[in-house]
Amino acid sequence: MTEMVTLTIDDREITVPKGTGLVETAAAAGIEIPVFCYEPRLGPPVGACRMCLVEIEGLPKLQAGCSLGAADGMVVKTAATSEKAAEGQNATLEFILVNHPLDCPVCDKGGECPLQDLTFRYGPGNTRMTFPKITLEKPIPVSPLIALDRERCILCYRCTRFSSDVAEDNQLVARNRGAHTEIATFEADPYRAPFSGNVIELCPVGALTSTQYRFEARPWDIQNVPTVCGLCSVGCNVNATVREGKVKRILSRNHPEIDEGWLCDKGRFSYPHLIAEDRISEPLARGSHGLEAVSWDAALDRAEELLRQAGTNVVTALSGTETIEQAYALGRLLRAGVGAHAAVLPEATSDALNAFRLPLSALGKAELVVVVGDDEIAERAPVVELWLKAARRNGAEVVHYGPTGNVPSALGAAAAALHALTEPGNELGGRLRASERAILIWSGSGGGGGARLAEAAHALGFEDKPGSGAFHLPATANARGVAAAWAAAADEDEANPEPIGLLIVSGDEAACDPAVRDLAERADRVIAITMFHGLAVGWADLVLPATSYLERDGTTMNLEGRLQRQRRAVIAPVPDELAWISKLAERFGVTVSPHASVVFEELSPEVFGGVDLTALNGRAGLPARTPYAAPAPAVEAKGPAGARLPDEHFVGELRLHRYRALFSGPFVERVEELGFQRPPAEIELSTADASKRAVANGDTVLVRSNGTSLELRARVNRKLVEGVARVADEHAGDLHPLVEVVKQ
Ligand code: SF4
Ligand code: FES
Repeated sequence: MTEMVTLTIDDREITVPKGTGLVETAAAAGIEIPVFCYEPRLGPPVGACRMCLVEIEGLPKLQAGCSLGAADGMVVKTAATSEKAAEGQNATLEFILVNHPLDCPVCDKGGECPLQDLTFRYGPGNTRMTFPKITLEKPIPVSPLIALDRERCILCYRCTRFSSDVAEDNQLVARNRGAHTEIATFEADPYRAPFSGNVIELCPVGALTSTQYRFEARPWDIQNVPTVCGLCSVGCNVNATVREGKVKRILSRNHPEIDEGWLCDKGRFSYPHLIAEDRISEPLARGSHGLEAVSWDAALDRAEELLRQAGTNVVTALSGTETIEQAYALGRLLRAGVGAHAAVLPEATSDALNAFRLPLSALGKAELVVVVGDDEIAERAPVVELWLKAARRNGAEVVHYGPTGNVPSALGAAAAALHALTEPGNELGGRLRASERAILIWSGSGGGGGARLAEAAHALGFEDKPGSGAFHLPATANARGVAAAWAAAADEDEANPEPIGLLIVSGDEAACDPAVRDLAERADRVIAITMFHGLAVGWADLVLPATSYLERDGTTMNLEGRLQRQRRAVIAPVPDELAWISKLAERFGVTVSPHASVVFEELSPEVFGGVDLTALNGRAGLPARTPYAAPAPAVEAKGPAGARLPDEHFVGELRLHRYRALFSGPFVERVEELGFQRPPAEIELSTADASKRAVANGDTVLVRSNGTSLELRARVNRKLVEGVARVADEHAGDLHPLVEVVKQ
């Protein structure tokens, strides 16, 4: 039973659970205790700014309200009723403003600045200071993404606490003492970490600003469009700030169950892809002089012609980044209209996991988390990594079986590791069974898209424990939604036809996939639906320009199985996919609405239990668990990049783990400021493998496999298991799954 306490704040009586923070208690009573440094998501209060001064009956001096918890009988007076508190806050602000420049008219934070707002409400109306304020060198580049105006900093330590206590990257530090304290990166290196951009949003003044947004807009000439990030399967809630029809920044929209207000830098800083130089703005058709721009009518004529020529010998390669409505509309056109059923889905998914649904925030309260899989979580679903860090800080035990896990295991060993947990007598399995808050995570390919994970969770009795669950981390943002929508479009499935008359490549991500490249080589004709002049354009007979996730309305399903709404933040320079799919479908006798909301209405009763679109407004909820149904035997949709090999031992050779780096892909590649976050051209070797080859950090090595060779820089990764070498996909060229590494 929670002990309740009753206290009085500004003559209002309020009852809250004992220990509730005074700031929250006051807020619940409709009273403001102003704060700068206090931010509960960063851990315990640090009492650095003194903005929150309050008078407590019985205590001689003013107290920092943020550092106090509610206690029975407490009598609190804020600035509203206590002259002493008002004076204290006024003095605090006067002190903070001694050196803070009054450059609000040109400061990016001006108009949405807590310091500005609180100075108006609680600060002195005038200044008594006549001496010049400190001026410092500015802006200091914290990284190509973040600028620091040191003279604006009020030393609240929000940024450094985020770096050390949330992201745990320890790259931002406060150096020097007293009045000379200043924020800096460790050894003045650029802040290179997956979550660095969060410090911009945390900064309560304009000291840390985004280099992309600096001087681009003022708060009164922007709109924030609430939408959902489309770059990974977490589906963080975001606001796209729009000015004059252009996206100018991405901010968090804090969904406490999904992202807790944090974004990764890929989601935050990738939006300039919308105005990439090689953006395709009109359809292109291959004629005698190569690809030439054609009208949309001519493009649809050509698409119809290609579809009719190919008959049912059509394969569709989906990216997993389409909205549910786009995938369904394409499915209706191709499966119901053309009669072509074959598809390359981005990856397998499994509905059996719905029996173990949990919000991601459950990770923060977990007691025991077991991760299996070859991929690092931060590369696949970055914000999940932050939840895991929170879990560890809250005392959870996290066990990771994988080539870079804390229980080093061979590449491709996830399924075996998971199975072992369900065997009688397995010690960890026993603890998973006994725990009320145990969570399983699959981070990598294979395993039937979570089917094996669901089986393990079932064997461990998780469906009866509301605090225990399982997460499969798909590699693409909407893998689950696309699979469900494609399946709903018609009821038959078919293997890929031979020969392939026509390949439809839906989206730039599909084009990057080696398996799709293979199909393109075998196909007679290719239609590419793509945003950029990338790979697929080289193979295509017809190019249809695509839109970005920031330019369309629709729904997606994230890794928890939560449906969310993506909203059009800006009008695309090209027609919406649904508009032209609808027209093309009509030519094949199929009706598909050009409006996402109508398509969703059609789909929802069959696929999503009739959920209403308006229920997804704001912060979407997580559907209830469904009863466990044993999954069908796993059919892998597609081999992972760098197919796995049998478990033999190859003397002198290493197994290559090609991984998809977080900062990679068609969107990131087109944003110059993100360049420094992209993976360097290096090969990671275990300590043992490096020493066997006399390779040290930074050495150049020759990586050979099957007649191909590449020069890469070596990096010794102490976490990596012996026998495995890691290379980011974009630097792995045509290397095969077994490589030889020789020092140059
Ligand atoms: Fe987007 Fe995923 Fe990053 Fe969230 S974690 S901002 S969904 S890419
Ligand atoms: Fe309480 Fe800063 S908010 S000391």
